[in-house]
Amino acid sequence: VSLRDFALGLPKAELHLHLEGTLEPELKFALAERNGITLPHTSVEEIRASYDFTDLTSFLAIYYPAMEVLQTADDFHDLAWEYLVRAKAQGVVHAEMFFDPQAHTSRGVPFENVIGGYRRAAVRAADELGITAELILCFLRDFSAEYAMATLMEALPYRRWIVGVGLDSDERDNPPGKFAAVFARAKAEGFFLTMHCDIDQVGSIDNIRAVIDEVGVDRIDHGTNIVEDPALVAIAKERGLGFTTCPVSNSFVTEQMKSDEIVGLLREGVRVTINSDDPAYFGAYVGDNYVALAEQAGLSHTDLVQLAINSFEVSWITPARRAAYV
Ligand code: ADE
Ligand code: ZN
Repeated sequence: VSLRDFALGLPKAELHLHLEGTLEPELKFALAERNGITLPHTSVEEIRASYDFTDLTSFLAIYYPAMEVLQTADDFHDLAWEYLVRAKAQGVVHAEMFFDPQAHTSRGVPFENVIGGYRRAAVRAADELGITAELILCFLRDFSAEYAMATLMEALPYRRWIVGVGLDSDERDNPPGKFAAVFARAKAEGFFLTMHCDIDQVGSIDNIRAVIDEVGVDRIDHGTNIVEDPALVAIAKERGLGFTTCPVSNSFVTEQMKSDEIVGLLREGVRVTINSDDPAYFGAYVGDNYVALAEQAGLSHTDLVQLAINSFEVSWITPARRAAYV
């Protein structure tokens, strides 16, 4: 079989996927119509052309305004459902999906609409697609710690629908320590923890160290700047810490996929995984990311299998579920 067919057919878990980052221009257009919203664009092609950026900051400046079309529980359901259908075609059998409630509650959309719609799609995926899906609540790090804590409190009645919490958005001037109390509380409430340590941020390595030593995360999203500190790499390896890397996303928000860093960590036995991040914006779903990295770095079929095994090893599915997948 071709590398592409092999990579797409490989059963895998996707662990770094922002549901709001799966808003394809077609769905954005349809939801705008359904909700009576006038977009500045008159066609799907124009929306696609507007998905244009050069770094994380310019990406986020397009990403948040695009979400205005998401309003009702049905909208959130449709977004997640379309992702899950696409994910299945890319070999995904289990997905742990980030969502950004504050990107919606901050513009007046009830938390209940967001989580209710997303959860309905996750349950439907188990029934109709035979794949499992969990939600990870992400706090937006450019908002205050108080707003994050209030969001965590708002989420507690829905705790059975949420497997863990994460931290995303603009890392600049928003280091992990800002959210120490929120993450301590989330841990005490029984949630798994992860945080974004984005690529080549100012103070990246210090943030990665803080996330490992002080916050005590279960995984790190991106985090490949860890290669700057071999002692820290050794600790990550010893603890079996998972890294959810996103090669195609990297090539958009920096100049390159960071394949040397990703493959270097893989060769050292660190549990790196491959994911899509915001596939509607970066034009590549998770299987496409396996292919892109493999072509760039000359990976073997065995390497791809190892990456897929890692995705199950560092997933937050229970041992009973895991036995059914690996
Ligand atoms: N939100 C969505 N995608 C993100 C990324 N790559 N980094 C930080 N925040 C994000
Ligand atoms: Zn991300």
